[in-house]
Amino acid sequence: MRLTLRVWRQAGPDEDGRLVDYAVDDVSPDMSFLEMLDVLNERLVLDGEEPIAFDHDCREGICGMCGMMINGVAHGPERATTTCQLHMRHFSDGDVVVIEPWRARAFPVIRDLVVDRGAFDRIIEAGGYITAPTGSAPDAHAIPIPKPDADKAFEAAACIGCGACVAACPNGSGMLFTAAKATHLGLLPQGQPERHSRAVDMLATHDALDFGGCTNAGECAPACPKGIPLESIARLNRDVLRATVSGAHKPR
Ligand code: SF4
Ligand code: FES
Repeated sequence: MRLTLRVWRQAGPDEDGRLVDYAVDDVSPDMSFLEMLDVLNERLVLDGEEPIAFDHDCREGICGMCGMMINGVAHGPERATTTCQLHMRHFSDGDVVVIEPWRARAFPVIRDLVVDRGAFDRIIEAGGYITAPTGSAPDAHAIPIPKPDADKAFEAAACIGCGACVAACPNGSGMLFTAAKATHLGLLPQGQPERHSRAVDMLATHDALDFGGCTNAGECAPACPKGIPLESIARLNRDVLRATVSGAHKPR
């Protein structure tokens, strides 16, 4: 395939950015999207040009580092996948592919397609942990956990922190991420002591950063490569409401 890539180039956080066109020949349908960018970057380096900066690490869909808007869609046209797991068979010869960084105020652009997702770390710091003394690993069945709770906790724990939910949301809200991180601990026995303080503090931190509010637009869940469901947000809101009504915890 021969493609035209229209790529966001931005030399630094305070520089103006612009879309630059690159023609790429001999794109195999079996290449991953990042391999296709690697091929372009090798050519740019040989030509003495700056390669396109983009985040990546595992390239197996598990680390959450990769992520870009591809033709206006977070992680591109294939549903429930990360950019590193997207393959070029989803494109056709002659396509123009527009590639941009996540567009969200909470994720400022560092360079080209790389954004700063440190705001997610601030939310985790506010409550994404338990303080129960853990000691050595307990026997597998020492703490019985109902299967539905274990399944829902595992579902929430699958969040890889990629940020697609924020990029897809018209408000730039990070509620799906916050809900996943709060509720995967809040559903397990070990996470109960801080269940409500965790929810209140993580939500307060989310709101204090540059994320927008959730208005139930519902764009986040379909963009999530790990299938975090919208009901996670409802569960977070219920925990915050219980803490607020009972007066059990005020945001730090
Ligand atoms: S909730 Fe989904 S889209 Fe959002 S950061 Fe986690 S894995 Fe990515
Ligand atoms: S590079 Fe790790 S999820 Fe894509």
